[in-house]
Amino acid sequence: MDTTHSSSSGADGAGPELQEHFEATIARDQRVEPRDWMPEGYRRTLIRQIAQHAHSEIIGMQPEGEWITRAPSLRRKAILFAKVQDEAGHGLYLYSAAETLGADRADLTERLIEGRQKYSSIFNYPTANFADVGVIGWFVDGAAICNQVPLCRSSYGPYARSMVRICKEESFHQRQGYELLMTMMRGTDAQRTMVQDAVDRWWWPSLMMFGPPDNDSPNSAQSMAWKIKRHSNDELRQRFVDMTVPQAERLGVTLPDPELRWNEERGHHDFGTPDWAELKRVISGDGPCNDRRVQRRREAHEEGAWVREAATAHAAKQAAQAREGAVA
Ligand SMILES: [Fe+2]
Ligand SMILES: [Fe+2]
Repeated sequence: MDTTHSSSSGADGAGPELQEHFEATIARDQRVEPRDWMPEGYRRTLIRQIAQHAHSEIIGMQPEGEWITRAPSLRRKAILFAKVQDEAGHGLYLYSAAETLGADRADLTERLIEGRQKYSSIFNYPTANFADVGVIGWFVDGAAICNQVPLCRSSYGPYARSMVRICKEESFHQRQGYELLMTMMRGTDAQRTMVQDAVDRWWWPSLMMFGPPDNDSPNSAQSMAWKIKRHSNDELRQRFVDMTVPQAERLGVTLPDPELRWNEERGHHDFGTPDWAELKRVISGDGPCNDRRVQRRREAHEEGAWVREAATAHAAKQAAQAREGAVA
């Protein structure tokens, strides 16, 4: 579609026909693709959301990655290694999706390591014992599934498609976490104590992963109107609680919330209020591990400079050889 000839300028300098075409695409539940005209606000919102999501996958490698060398068996080491590697893959699909909107990946990385772009609050908490690996799989990957399954129907094509594969892998991650916890619960008293301790520490931060409550989430309405987002923060949080409570019962652990109970009338579980002041602190950079996470990411980026240089030189050499081959 030619965006240059519109004489009667609408929003973002586009003709009204482009704006109408975009709105009709959204209304019909069709996908917006990189070649299509889109409002600047839609593009900016998507870049911000996809970049934050990509950063979360990459930073999310750290809390569990710290346990790879200390995993208790070769089997657990191999599983954890594969899982952490999957998260790197998720980050790469998502950075690629952001690039289809005109974002520059190097620039997004700079924004992350300079603290100008955010990632999920959950990865700013420490992993104290090996049960944390299981609880992260169960809670954090479980919450990611609740958040991300609806994103498979997001209005932006590349984002929605990247979510399909990511969700399949997240669901595998969740099951491996739960399986690890089941194994520990069948073990010794000390192991059961480790599991309960990890559950106690990760429950509330996991509920905070869905973001602030709906009445304090200013950007949600526009994202829902654009069908980037399909459900509100509170709806998704409720879905996660309802999904997790029976799993906790089967596992034999207690979720640390005295207000948690089934509400027959609503057909959902009632639950207590997360500490929103804590969420604000962690998001604004003052969580237990924010500095450590960003510092580690910065070091990894610097240590990887030679790999990027070598890959660029290799690609240039391949391109030159292809050109010579074409001439010969
Ligand atoms: Fe992931
Ligand atoms: Fe995952």
